[in-house]
Amino acid sequence: MTLQHPLVAVVTGAGSGIGLACAGALATRGAHCVLVGRRQDRLEAAAAALDSPAAVLPADLAEPNEAGRIVAETLAAYGRIDVIVHSAGVFEKAHVPEVTEDHWQRVMDVNLGAVMALTGAAWEPLAASSGQIVLISSVAAVQAFEGNAAYAASKGGLNALGEVLRLEGRDRGIRVITLSPAQIDTALWDDKAPDRVRARMMPATGVGELVADLVGTDRRIDIAPVVIRPVRDPWVEPEP
Ligand SMILES: NC(=O)c1ccc[n+]([C@@H]2O[C@H](COP(=O)([O-])OP(=O)(O)OC[C@H]3O[C@@H](n4cnc5c(N)ncnc54)[C@H](OP(=O)(O)O)[C@@H]3O)[C@@H](O)[C@H]2O)c1
Repeated sequence: MTLQHPLVAVVTGAGSGIGLACAGALATRGAHCVLVGRRQDRLEAAAAALDSPAAVLPADLAEPNEAGRIVAETLAAYGRIDVIVHSAGVFEKAHVPEVTEDHWQRVMDVNLGAVMALTGAAWEPLAASSGQIVLISSVAAVQAFEGNAAYAASKGGLNALGEVLRLEGRDRGIRVITLSPAQIDTALWDDKAPDRVRARMMPATGVGELVADLVGTDRRIDIAPVVIRPVRDPWVEPEP
């Protein structure tokens, strides 16, 4: 399925993993993507591999004022914003006694604060284009895992934010899609899961396809928060 016209999609965390896969699937459907992340080399490699023209916009989303710059530069280049995929995120484990102020703040800044800042900065352009917001949350928002205090709080907050955005966006023509995945094989699991477990996780490409398909659905459809999981728990060894 090809999207109706070249959508302009801002994708955060686009240099790797789910963000890269979302940009890839959206670009294959004709979208022009603005790729956001800190590592410029990753963004440039991603842009070069996409099926549609893309712009690279290096930014540290934890820094103040970056949201406004991203929106201003996207509007200057394309004149509109149709989609924002918020995929940038950090997954740092810390059990309660190890939760420092720095750890808590870093996770909150990127996983939650930056999403609000970019969404707020893009709100009017999104309303002008009857745009869509995709929040890449996590199953950790609704399921407890040890060592996840800050991460779970950030993603639970993200799901709650998504419902407020859905409510406030409805009358502005903005659709919100909240996706809460379980394990996906990306760099997020480097040093956290062995290869045999990662091989049983969901592929990022499949998640990118799902996001692009949801974005392409009839706009009279409201999409309730979506949870996706591997068919079987990747941490459980199959019976020999
Ligand atoms: N993989 C999973 O199992 C899983 C499951 C549920 C939810 N998620 C969520 O999916 C999202 C994407 O994660 P992933 O699995 O694709 O892992 P990933 O490959 O590590 O992607 C995370 C991305 O976020 C970017 N990022 C991190 N901090 C940033 C900052 N301060 N400013 C701008 N960009 C920043 C990184 O790029 P730079 O380092 O270049 O900035 C990177 O491209 C995250 O929100 C994660 O919580 C993942």
